[in-house]
Amino acid sequence: MVHASTTLKPALDAIGKAIDQRFDRLLPVPDDARAQLFNAMRHAAIGGGKRMRPLLVVAACDLFHVDRERALRVALAIECIHVYSLIHDDMPCMDDDDMRRGKPTVHKLYDEATAVLAGDSLHALAFELLADPATHEDPFARCELVTELAVASGPSGMAGGQMMDLIAGDTLYDIGGVTRLQQLKTGALIGFCLEAGAIMGRVPEAQRTPLRGYARDLGLAFQIADDLLDVEGSAEAAGKAVGKDEAAGKATFVSLMGVEQARTQAAMLIDQAIQQLHGFGEEADLLRAIARFAIERDR
Ligand code: IPE
Ligand code: IPE
Ligand code: MG
Ligand code: MG
Ligand code: MG
Repeated sequence: MVHASTTLKPALDAIGKAIDQRFDRLLPVPDDARAQLFNAMRHAAIGGGKRMRPLLVVAACDLFHVDRERALRVALAIECIHVYSLIHDDMPCMDDDDMRRGKPTVHKLYDEATAVLAGDSLHALAFELLADPATHEDPFARCELVTELAVASGPSGMAGGQMMDLIAGDTLYDIGGVTRLQQLKTGALIGFCLEAGAIMGRVPEAQRTPLRGYARDLGLAFQIADDLLDVEGSAEAAGKAVGKDEAAGKATFVSLMGVEQARTQAAMLIDQAIQQLHGFGEEADLLRAIARFAIERDR
């Protein structure tokens, strides 16, 4: 088997540059009292992230020959939501973290009010990007993108999962509960990336099942890998503090089944994710490589 990073590195580098460029264009700092807000958004959005969600969008869009510029608008939108979720996740009222992507967190560099507003603004920008006719000529497709991202971000998606995560300390989740928590917190936004490829390509509902299965398995494995990094990773490589979940009483696969079993579970989920793509040929190799990367990464 080819190691994921050998095939994936050029693709990750290219998407990283493309997303940085587009954030730079999207967020010119105005010469007025909003400058601090834009600077905070730029600080959080430009540089440092793996850009795995944008790459998933582009890889899924490529399956259906979607125009690259349009795919990148959707990729930028999901990264806006992701970055907003990280800014808020790091705030003192949530995980209280000082470092993100190897840099100070937004509330540390500026203040909490600026962090709230930078998150709010990125959240809104994501939907502005999707609703623009430049993203898709068909208004039904744009509406579907907006609806799917809204569901994936809101109380039945990321925000709901974050609530479950925060009250985990006082609640006993079993494996089923943690699975649901992680599907909402992390899986929903990853699910959007694959669904977006199908929407952009006008793929009929009935043909979306394999991509949904892949996303489901990948989303869970990705969060298990994040939880393993918190236990065994280094802050230097990860660009964020590690060793915090246990102290905070977070319910994770690692807290429930231990490191060894969690690692086995993540590997099994990734095999399963790749299996879901059996109907695709080499055009899905990038998705297969991303799946392997999700659990082999050190950041
Ligand atoms: C971190 O996501 C938050 C989780 C959902 C686990 P990533 O690991 O994708 O963070 P970046 O974008 O690379 O910084
Ligand atoms: C955060 O999960 C998931 C989000 C929705 C932002 P974590 O709290 O485990 O992410 P890290 O470890 O801070 O990146
Ligand atoms: Mg958190
Ligand atoms: Mg956190
Ligand atoms: Mg974590």
